[in-house]
Amino acid sequence: MSTLRLPALRLPTLRLSTLPLPTLRQSALGLALSMAATTSAQASDVEVLHWWTSGGEARAANVLKELLEAEGYGWEDFAVAGGGGETAMTVLKSRAMSGNPPSAAQIKGPEIQEWGELGLLGDLDDVAAEENWDALLPEVVADIMRFDGHYVAVPANVHRVNWLWANPEVLDAAGVEMPTTLDELFTAGEAIREAGFVPLAHGGQAWQDATVFESVVLGSQGVDFYRQSLVELDPEALGSDQMIEALETFKRLRELMDEGMPGRDWNIATNMVIEGDAGFQLMGDWAKGEFTAAGLTAGEDYLCAAAPGSEDAFSFNIDSLAMFRVNDDGEREAQQALARLVLEPTFQEAFNLAKGSIPARPDLDMSEFDSCAEQSLADFQRTAETGGLVPSMSHGMAVRADVQGAIFDVVTNYFNDANMPADQAAERLVSAAQMASF
Ligand code: GAL
Repeated sequence: MSTLRLPALRLPTLRLSTLPLPTLRQSALGLALSMAATTSAQASDVEVLHWWTSGGEARAANVLKELLEAEGYGWEDFAVAGGGGETAMTVLKSRAMSGNPPSAAQIKGPEIQEWGELGLLGDLDDVAAEENWDALLPEVVADIMRFDGHYVAVPANVHRVNWLWANPEVLDAAGVEMPTTLDELFTAGEAIREAGFVPLAHGGQAWQDATVFESVVLGSQGVDFYRQSLVELDPEALGSDQMIEALETFKRLRELMDEGMPGRDWNIATNMVIEGDAGFQLMGDWAKGEFTAAGLTAGEDYLCAAAPGSEDAFSFNIDSLAMFRVNDDGEREAQQALARLVLEPTFQEAFNLAKGSIPARPDLDMSEFDSCAEQSLADFQRTAETGGLVPSMSHGMAVRADVQGAIFDVVTNYFNDANMPADQAAERLVSAAQMASF
């Protein structure tokens, strides 16, 4: 039986991504227009569901829209605001339940398998064979894109989740350096507070709490423990003293956050770092898309480093577009074109420059990418060899959606409840993982 959760339906916030994108638009379009002449004018539309609505994300999504339109296909934007994509997934489920899914949707990790099991995904084997995806993609990436041996999704990028971002002017004003351990983060945070800034910008939403929690588990307990507890869901690890210690450290981080955090969107928190109101943010590298959109330069105007204590780990989050099974030949053709474009160098470069991630295919020229992206690529390759490359629990790469939802509930309830002790939260994590396995 499938474990796909069909949560209570909430009213979605639909928003079109309409932000201007002068530079990327020009370069991507120039190339795409020259290809357009060779394709049919009879092409159809693709409706694409995604949650890329922040400044940086919308710039990135626009790259795909422009490329597709330049080949004569129509892009119907189905953007559902809400970081981490929970609302988008709720909307997608309601559309699928009513028998009317979009042509393509941002679906990631094990959730691709869940949709595949429901028999709703169309296959991309033809385009994958023509474009030689097997040779292009690292096995760890290709594996996630296949259901039952068939390609059903195409990867757009590789995000790293365990990053720390900082404003160097705030750090200077407080007389502190970029921390490399959690202890150093707490010490630097106190100095930043004394200097009159918010130490750690955060948005109090379940997925953001889980994003920070995941980095604390990695940074305080290491890769093996992370894998045992948050990937393999080993009850002993989930209920262990190590987990209790990680939970306590995680909750201490509240001391570095401000009172305005409840409900705050992640990109507003990033903006606090951009504006020099806050020193740090613990967030995946989609935050870099915001720094880039603000015209800032990595290593000068803002700093990046592995989340404290986690330099030997890389928690990966791969965005991908899965295609739904469709009957219309024109729509199917448009889906294949979309899938092909996503892996072509033009898209991979322009999209990932705007998105903050690195390309999903490792053979591309990285000369246009900044120092944080270079570090990301080097760390991806290094950790793939050393065993530090781990799927992100908080971004749907490690466990199925129902388990992830149950873990989110425990993590966020614990983080926001001054009276819940860490050992109780650890016990609840054990039950969450067990309940979800039924
Ligand atoms: C992640 C997604 C990223 C980014 C982020 C914030 O789950 O993979 O592409 O959009 O959420 O919305």
